[in-house]
Amino acid sequence: MAIKERKTLQALRGMVDILPEEQGYWRYVREATVSVCEGYGYGQIDTPILEDYSLFSRGVGEVTDIVEKEMYTITDKGGDTIALRPEATAAVCRAYLEHGLHNKPQPVRLYSVGMPMFRYARPQAGRLRQFHQINVEAIGDADATIDAEVVALCWQLFRKLGLKGLSLQLNSIGDPKCRPGYVEALRSYYSQQEGRLCRECKSRLERNPLRLLDCKVPGCQPLIEGAPRSADYLCEECQAHFQALTRYLGLMEVPFTREHRLVRGLDYYTRTVFEVQTSEEGQQNALGGGGRYDGLIEELGGRPTPGVGFAVGMERVILNLKRQGIEPPASPGTRVFVAYVGQEAKAQAVGLVSRLVRSGVSAMLGPAGKSLKAQLRQAGSMGVPYVLILGDQELEKGVVVLRDMTRREQREVGLEEVIEQIR
Ligand code: HAM
Repeated sequence: MAIKERKTLQALRGMVDILPEEQGYWRYVREATVSVCEGYGYGQIDTPILEDYSLFSRGVGEVTDIVEKEMYTITDKGGDTIALRPEATAAVCRAYLEHGLHNKPQPVRLYSVGMPMFRYARPQAGRLRQFHQINVEAIGDADATIDAEVVALCWQLFRKLGLKGLSLQLNSIGDPKCRPGYVEALRSYYSQQEGRLCRECKSRLERNPLRLLDCKVPGCQPLIEGAPRSADYLCEECQAHFQALTRYLGLMEVPFTREHRLVRGLDYYTRTVFEVQTSEEGQQNALGGGGRYDGLIEELGGRPTPGVGFAVGMERVILNLKRQGIEPPASPGTRVFVAYVGQEAKAQAVGLVSRLVRSGVSAMLGPAGKSLKAQLRQAGSMGVPYVLILGDQELEKGVVVLRDMTRREQREVGLEEVIEQIR
């Protein structure tokens, strides 16, 4: 009979396992996020991984890389077109509408941490197909104080994480009143240079001129340098909003630079846009970004409702924590290793581990079929502070050997008292 060869399966490209030794970083980032967000009065929200496809095509924008090229779109068994979420903002706004959160005091301040997002992009360092975001939204207030709060919260998060060498870039891309004039100016400027544009930019010129400023192709950089700036096209209200924001940020001691070419890759932004970047070379240097989206909720079928927020990529944060040598606090690890010799001792050891864990002492059973020496070696390599040893002799006497691995001492303790002794 022919033996069928089985292919070894691997995780999908751009989707990674997070092993126990990595979890300390994740816990560290999660705890910093909870502390900063709750500190600013934000409440946690989690939304489903799958949403109606049109939530993102309407929200993020039909002519964006995310929707056009990167969405995981599925037809479910009922024939509905659904999508794995590529971002959280549209979903949080849907939840805001669905749960009538406009009836609560405004703005409604929401955050999430660790929600997986999916984008079918070419994987590389800092760019995955399944990645995780910290996401923060303040919905229901158009005032620049809220933009300032959200930007300051974002900056505080990086401060709390201990990351150095970051820059905060800020811009205003206007609103539906003044942006068309700016987009027209861009279109006219770029039309005169069409021969010098990369292929992608030629298509952007047709379909989404704002994104021309986002091109990373070296040949397009001089054109970007000379392009019209949104600052020169803002209406009075947008000007005033931006000026107020920069004043508040100054008062909050948040350092920022105005970056005229910052436009962001999602269509819902109005007025404020910002990004936090590392000085590391490479294209994945945006750790987080966001802005105001005053038209999004209306686009999703709600009454006109302003909003502002940002998202941070957790993988990129962790990559930079490692690069900068920032170690998360060590986890306490297992306290007790229970070694045994013989069948009856094995059964008693099983019961003992369970009693230890139930009384709040972390414990682990030794491996079956291994000599005492091998078990002690394993306990030593794990760095546990205590080992309990059970054998026939101990069982007869109703005791267990308690070995203190740090002091390299051991003594017998009654089976009934051992938990108290270790605690
Ligand atoms: P975004 O700029 O598309 O914005 O993503 C935010 C952050 O998520 C990025 O700065 C980056 O750190 C991380 N990120 C994005 N794509 C990937 C990827 N393929 N692999 C790893 N990390 C990635 C948004 O998602 C908006 N929803 C932000 C927002 C919230 N605006 C208003 N509220």
